[in-house]
Amino acid sequence: MKELIDRLYQTHSLSPEEYKVLLENRTTELAEYLFEKAREVRIKNYDHDVYIRGLIEFTNYCKNDCYYCGIRKSNKKAERYRLTEDEILSCCEAGYELGFRTFVLQGGEDPYYTDERMVKILLRMKASYPDCAITLSMGERSHESYQAMFEAGADRYLLRHETANEEHYSKLHPENMRLSNRKACLFDLKNIGYQVGCGFMVGSPGQTVDTIVEDLLFIKELAPHMVGIGPFIPHHDTPFRDCTGGTLELTLFLLGMVRLMIPDVLLPATTALGTIDPTGREKGIKAGCNVVMPNLSPTDVRSKYMLYDNKICTGDEAAECRFCMQRRMESIGYEIAVSRGDHLSMQ
Ligand code: SAM
Ligand code: FES
Repeated sequence: MKELIDRLYQTHSLSPEEYKVLLENRTTELAEYLFEKAREVRIKNYDHDVYIRGLIEFTNYCKNDCYYCGIRKSNKKAERYRLTEDEILSCCEAGYELGFRTFVLQGGEDPYYTDERMVKILLRMKASYPDCAITLSMGERSHESYQAMFEAGADRYLLRHETANEEHYSKLHPENMRLSNRKACLFDLKNIGYQVGCGFMVGSPGQTVDTIVEDLLFIKELAPHMVGIGPFIPHHDTPFRDCTGGTLELTLFLLGMVRLMIPDVLLPATTALGTIDPTGREKGIKAGCNVVMPNLSPTDVRSKYMLYDNKICTGDEAAECRFCMQRRMESIGYEIAVSRGDHLSMQ
């Protein structure tokens, strides 16, 4: 099996059958070998720097009904909120003081945020913080919308593809959501000029080794700048309440593989990883990740952006999250960078 890892390290790709064999023959020892290689590649490209992104969860209204998600439209128990433009700007102000040079606006698909409103928010953010990058993560929109927001200053866009297999996609989403549209959005965003991120949850209901192989092939085809991979964690008020969550072990293995497949990828150690294991994010960094996304949302809305059960950091102030992260990274020999943390090709 080590030969397959060596080849992935050298050529950055394997055949579908080989990906499958590698995944099916995982052992602790093999994983250690993979992580060593992944760290080597990561350090060669990004040294020991860990890029931080200030996550602003600006709305939990959503018109979608993804079966896995705690803020889906049908969850009548979710207490809904929207941040005003001023509130978003004060999150940025606090974040800038703390050394953040990337702000991520993430939210449900909320029609309230029309292109006009988004453009206004983005222009104000860019005018106030011209040295910062802005990442959007607000789902599927039209080409015109993506274009307008790019022109207003958005630099990056996160849109996990969730699964690259049609049948699996339809087990995770209602009929009106289509994998083809999701993929089209990703290619569109990339063509417009965004640094784009796709990704998926590990252990989502219906996922198999074969669907994961399809995910890896799609990631290779899209060649994104960022890849978001975190464990699926059930939420008690969703149709998947009784499903089993994804494992730390498989999530780390996939993160290591993606680092070898795309050596200069921006790869976050996600909050979900930190939720299923107290040192999950540190383990993610040691498996090849180079990004963390501490929460900058106002404390009073944090517990309302509950995508899954037991989400961490919901009671902490932005500064606490920031310094907690710094301690965690330093404890494993890495260092938080005060910079935009762009993809290597843009630096
Ligand atoms: N609405 C935007 C979108 O769909 O891309 C951004 C917000 S959405 C909540 C962000 C990501 O959260 C999704 O892409 C999904 O992978 C992840 N997520 C949602 N529910 C989850 C769960 N139960 N466990 C782990 N991750 C989850
Ligand atoms: Fe819309 Fe989760 S269903 S953000």
